[in-house]
Amino acid sequence: MRILGIETSCDETAAGVVEDGVRLISNVVASQARLHAPYGGVVPELASREHEVNLIPVVRAALEPAGGMGGVDALAVTVGPGLQGSLLVGMTFAKAAAYAARLPAYAVNHLEAHLAALRLTRAPPEPPFVALLATGGHTALYDVTAWGDYRTLGETADDAAGEAFDKVARLLGMPYPGGPPLERAAAEGTPAFDFPRPMLKRGWSFSFAGLKTSVALRVKGLGEGETARRRADLAASFQEAALEVLAAKALRACEALGRERLAVVGGVAANERLREMLAAGAAAVYCPRPGLCGDNGAMVAAAGFLAAARGEVLDAAADPAPSLGLG
Ligand code: KG4
Ligand code: ZN
Repeated sequence: MRILGIETSCDETAAGVVEDGVRLISNVVASQARLHAPYGGVVPELASREHEVNLIPVVRAALEPAGGMGGVDALAVTVGPGLQGSLLVGMTFAKAAAYAARLPAYAVNHLEAHLAALRLTRAPPEPPFVALLATGGHTALYDVTAWGDYRTLGETADDAAGEAFDKVARLLGMPYPGGPPLERAAAEGTPAFDFPRPMLKRGWSFSFAGLKTSVALRVKGLGEGETARRRADLAASFQEAALEVLAAKALRACEALGRERLAVVGGVAANERLREMLAAGAAAVYCPRPGLCGDNGAMVAAAGFLAAARGEVLDAAADPAPSLGLG
């Protein structure tokens, strides 16, 4: 069964084709990062308009290796969580395209799609496993007892991990999205500043707002002619603090639940230092390829296969679900 997956929940317009939920045929992503960069974050109205411009060419390119719309058996589209207007563009397109091509369409939860990206790797983790999901909008720990069966262990009480990277990068004068430039800067510095590790020892929840404020206070204290070196040290110090909390809690959850496997997904999972920290623990660590960590259409197609098995058809009257949860 070949599924065309469509993703427009935030600032990537993306489409991909996946066979039987596991074999990647195509994956095309049009990033809007440069459009939003001058504003330091995603501007919802601009995002929706840009999805409208990019979606048809992106879908065409994704369908090419599959032999066009005739080469797929179903569609899948992200219905939430995400930006209302952006979700609406993808959903409206999917409803119309499915109707015109007389194909079924399935409703996909964006968070499950990040997890389903694991199934596109050569050796996906077998449930049960613990999953750490860290994106620009979400940070959570799940116990995955079966594909489709997710129990939330903890979530962030305020900012998401990726959001903290974006905000700290902005404080340090780096462009949006801040994760990749901040990781590069951190590699040039040393973690000389001792920032707090919020909720490191306590429970399964996260909090990154206080850590961001600590960095902001330090940045304010920097002198005029402060060197790039000092900024790299700040980047490294923030990164160590944020990633240590993510890694320690995820590894501790494995221990507490007796899980031997740990998966890490979402945009922040592309971070090499995070992967290094997790690899130092006792669990076997699984991550999607870097290109499948951030938002993409193939992960939606992979999750569409799971949604299809559960009969989660996209109703013609379905509305976007901006604050949809998982587990
Ligand atoms: O999963 P994703 O593409 O979109 C959402 O669903 O939010 O995640 C994007 C987030 C951004 O906040 C971005 O700065 C962060 O992932 N990110 C990173 C790295 N690459 C992307 N954070 C830390 N290190 C990275 N290498
Ligand atoms: Zn995402």
